[in-house]
Amino acid sequence: MNLLVTGGTGQLGRAITRLGSAQHQITAPGSAELDATDARAVASAIAESRPDLVIHAGAMTDVDGCEHDPKLAHRINGLGTQNVAAASASAGTPIVYVSTNFVFDGSLERPYLEFDTPNPISLYGASKLAGEHAVSSLNPQHYIVRTAMVYDETGHNFVNSMLRLATQHPKLTIVDDQYGNPTYAGDLALGILQLIQSGAFGTYHVTNAGTASWHEWAVKIFELSGVETPTEPIPGSQFKRAATPPANGVLDNMAAAGLGIELPHWHDALERYLHRRSELAG
Ligand SMILES: NC(=O)c1ccc[n+]([C@@H]2O[C@H](COP(=O)([O-])OP(=O)(O)OC[C@H]3O[C@@H](n4cnc5c(N)ncnc54)[C@H](OP(=O)(O)O)[C@@H]3O)[C@@H](O)[C@H]2O)c1
Repeated sequence: MNLLVTGGTGQLGRAITRLGSAQHQITAPGSAELDATDARAVASAIAESRPDLVIHAGAMTDVDGCEHDPKLAHRINGLGTQNVAAASASAGTPIVYVSTNFVFDGSLERPYLEFDTPNPISLYGASKLAGEHAVSSLNPQHYIVRTAMVYDETGHNFVNSMLRLATQHPKLTIVDDQYGNPTYAGDLALGILQLIQSGAFGTYHVTNAGTASWHEWAVKIFELSGVETPTEPIPGSQFKRAATPPANGVLDNMAAAGLGIELPHWHDALERYLHRRSELAG
């Protein structure tokens, strides 16, 4: 397939290029080359490259930054997605829209299914949900893929931050009452590449299997990396930040499992990631 991937310089965009290029012809511009908020540029990129499918992974992902600049969050994640959805629909091209567990409020006492009702409690979640609405109303050939807690080798993410902070502080306090599914971008990319072969348009949750709080995740990162910096679990109420993550941000991947798409457990993914990270560091 000929794939156009927005957010090509991001964690997921790079992973899709890394893992999908043997099978697919992939064009993956960053925001400087293709700004989703520029409707004309998006329309001409799709008209010129005539992709078989567009993966819209580009987004404003700075969750706290979205609280500080709601208009920019909505412009990039809402309007930008509307532009990509409308242009792909005009060209008769299917779209994958990558969304987030932050569309849920986290109050449910079980993992969130694809068909549970979103009710975002953050600007980031609200702006990504606006993107979901744009995609589902404008392009009938859509896959909405919600994921969570994504990390990759070169990205700004929790794993890399923890490993850095562990070298800078004698002890770390980490939130222990907010849960999700840590997800390796490489596994997510493979899941999406499998999903687009299905033709089964709809809404999917795609994460590594298993769940963790931020503290449990950090403990595993340190255990697998041989880091001995002590950690203290704290409630989210003691960690001041602009955005409030859902307390229960855990996704149930029921719909993807129905297609035979099931990602490995996050422990396994983290181990592979750390191995690759140390290989890349030489
Ligand atoms: N990271 C997570 O934990 C997480 C969790 C759930 C869902 N997601 C979703 O997964 C997708 C991929 O996330 P990621 O972790 O790969 O993000 P990332 O590493 O932060 O990369 C974001 C990408 O979006 C691009 N971008 C920013 N503004 C844009 C614009 N106006 N037009 C087009 N592209 C723009 C950036 O381009 P430049 O760098 O060139 O500016 C970059 O390539 C996003 O849709 C995100 O909402 C992420």
